[in-house]
Formats: sequence, structure tokens, C-alpha cells
Amino acid sequence: MQATLTINGNSHAVDVPPATLLVELLRDHLGLTGTHIGCETSQCGVCNVLVDGLAVKACTVLAVSLDGGKVTTIEGLAQGEGLHPMQAAFREHHGLQCGFCTPGMVIAGIGIAERHGAQVSDAVIAHELEGNLCRCTGYLNIISAIGAGARAMASTTLETVDA
Ligand code: FES
Ligand code: FES
Repeated sequence: MQATLTINGNSHAVDVPPATLLVELLRDHLGLTGTHIGCETSQCGVCNVLVDGLAVKACTVLAVSLDGGKVTTIEGLAQGEGLHPMQAAFREHHGLQCGFCTPGMVIAGIGIAERHGAQVSDAVIAHELEGNLCRCTGYLNIISAIGAGARAMASTTLETVDA
């Protein structure tokens, strides 16, 4: 079945079986292995990507259902050598240990920042992360990183607007 998706800014015309999951398309067909697979049952969040700006679990979506859609994976966040503000916040606040959950956490963090803005509280972040599991259990630093990333994203937007 054919579909055309814009992935990390590039248009991809794909022809895959109708049951192909988005995470399978990304990893197995396009080599974008930064999107991980954990539970495959919508519980762990390691497969999070942005679909039309919203954080979505890529193990729950059929690739062909996104015909015409826009997907951003962890590989699409940095601008050249410059990390996305949420990625930079994870590095600054030690929001990762083994790193397996990190792509999904960063994407979830961007979704949280987009919906709640710079003033998002730690309690709200913790609640929002119920669908993201970290087997290293580094949640406190992840929450700090997302809060800092949300503030950095807001100030980046303001600077862009002011420019
Ligand atoms: Fe998608 Fe766990 S692999 S939520
Ligand atoms: Fe290891 Fe989260 S940093 S699973």
C-alpha cells in the first residue's frame, strides 16, 4: 500500500504492507533506529515520535494511515551541530543513564512543553510521563530536564518572535 509522508523534513513515498506500524517503517524501512521498540503495546513510550507536532507512540499507528502527514523523529530535532533545546536540557540536567528510553522521553518532553508552556510544574510533568517508562528509574533528573527544556523552548520562541 502506498503513502507519502514527510519525515524529518524529507518527503518519502513508501509502499508497505497495510499492517506496517509506523515504528517498523521508521526503523526497518528508513533506518531511523533512534526510535526504539520496547513493549509494542503502548505502555513504555520509547517509540514516541512527533506526528503533526503531537507526541505519538509509533507502535500504535499504522504507517499508511499517516499519508500526507508530517513525522519528526529524534534524528530530526537537532539543527546541524545545534541540539534542540530539549535535547540540550537532558544533557545539562543528566536526564539519561543507559539512554534506551531517552528518545521517547525527549519527544514526550517536547509534547509536554508545547501543551503546558514554560511554567509547567514538576507534578504535571510527572503525571504526563505516566506513559513513559525508564528502566534505569532516573525520573527525577528527567523531570528536571523537561522543565528546563520547556523554559528553554519558550525563550527560544520568544527570541525568534522578537528577532
Ligand atoms: Fe511503543 Fe512501548 S514500544 S509504547
Ligand atoms: Fe535507561 Fe531510561 S535511561 S531506560
